[in-house]
Amino acid sequence: MIGDKKIVYSAVQPTGCITLGNYVGAIQNWLKLSEEYNSIFAIADLHALTVRQVPAEYRQRAMSFFAQYLACGLDPEKSIMYFQSHVPEHAELTWILNCFTYIGEAQRMTQFKDKSAKHTDNINMGLLDYPVLMASDILLYQTDFVPVGIDQKQHLELCRDLAIRFNNLYSPTFTVPEAYIGKQGAKIFSLQEPTKKMSKSDPDVNATVSIIDSADDIMRKFKRAVTDCDSVVRFDEVNKPGVSNLLTIFSAATGKTIEELEKEFEGKGYAQLKPAVGEAVAEKFRPIRERYDEYMKNKDYLMSVAKSGAEKARSIARRTLSKVYRKVGLVEG
Ligand code: TYM
Repeated sequence: MIGDKKIVYSAVQPTGCITLGNYVGAIQNWLKLSEEYNSIFAIADLHALTVRQVPAEYRQRAMSFFAQYLACGLDPEKSIMYFQSHVPEHAELTWILNCFTYIGEAQRMTQFKDKSAKHTDNINMGLLDYPVLMASDILLYQTDFVPVGIDQKQHLELCRDLAIRFNNLYSPTFTVPEAYIGKQGAKIFSLQEPTKKMSKSDPDVNATVSIIDSADDIMRKFKRAVTDCDSVVRFDEVNKPGVSNLLTIFSAATGKTIEELEKEFEGKGYAQLKPAVGEAVAEKFRPIRERYDEYMKNKDYLMSVAKSGAEKARSIARRTLSKVYRKVGLVEG
């Protein structure tokens, strides 16, 4: 870590695939922030155990996500990248913070309510504890900014509350982090149900675009994207959610503003808009897919990056955890 630069921390759970939503809502901002700040990015592989995983597939997917981080352009020379499970301090701090989290606070989390409704046969303790583990991820590194999509805002607020509570009970221990949520693209919607978040776990393959989908798949999915029955290309999230979502994606892929795009498509219809967005996204993801294929051929390299990332992460995490253990009165070992 360099000097007194601010610290950026974020993570993705290795479930499903890394989607266009994850890319626009989170990873694109990680890339930007990692140029300016000290940055740490994890694969949240303990988090995703809150739902059942097939072990062999899960291991493979976590590696694939790690390769995708690198393929997106995250640079191990500039950022620390590692698997959450390689740094035991995450689970250790979670236990301590559990003792400072009220059950009611955890039960109020929207994601806990949604996931419990979805997995009625497996409402486990981990699901309830999920945001406390996430708070531990963030607080271990004295994080200043957490670049995430809007769906993580509530978890971030709980994390801040826990940091403030602990600091007030003892003495300043944790940096109180701030969410970094982009003005645009903080919530990308499903291509099939544009009032619903684009989600990694959506069973409808046409609803979600993966950052390593082939250009053909990307084109097909955009051509089938649900819009509405008039054909005016205009940004209006309430009355035209499908078209507005396409414009947001188009803008993220090209860097053009929504107004510029509305002008460009004046007098044109959805038949022109949809393939144009598909092409822009396919073009944006083409180099990522190519680099991904290369990284996946070199697992030894991936593991060496992950191992050195975990070592660096541990040395920072250990410092915070020791401080916490001392403050709560544990006998020093
Ligand atoms: P996860 O894995 O669900 O999503 C990873 C990141 O992508 C963002 N995101 C979206 N952004 C815009 N539109 C969408 N449709 C969309 N879907 C997802 C998420 O907001 C997130 O930023 N709990 C976290 C992972 C995590 C974490 C952390 C994040 C674990 N520890 C510490 C930050 C800091 C999660 O499940 O994200």
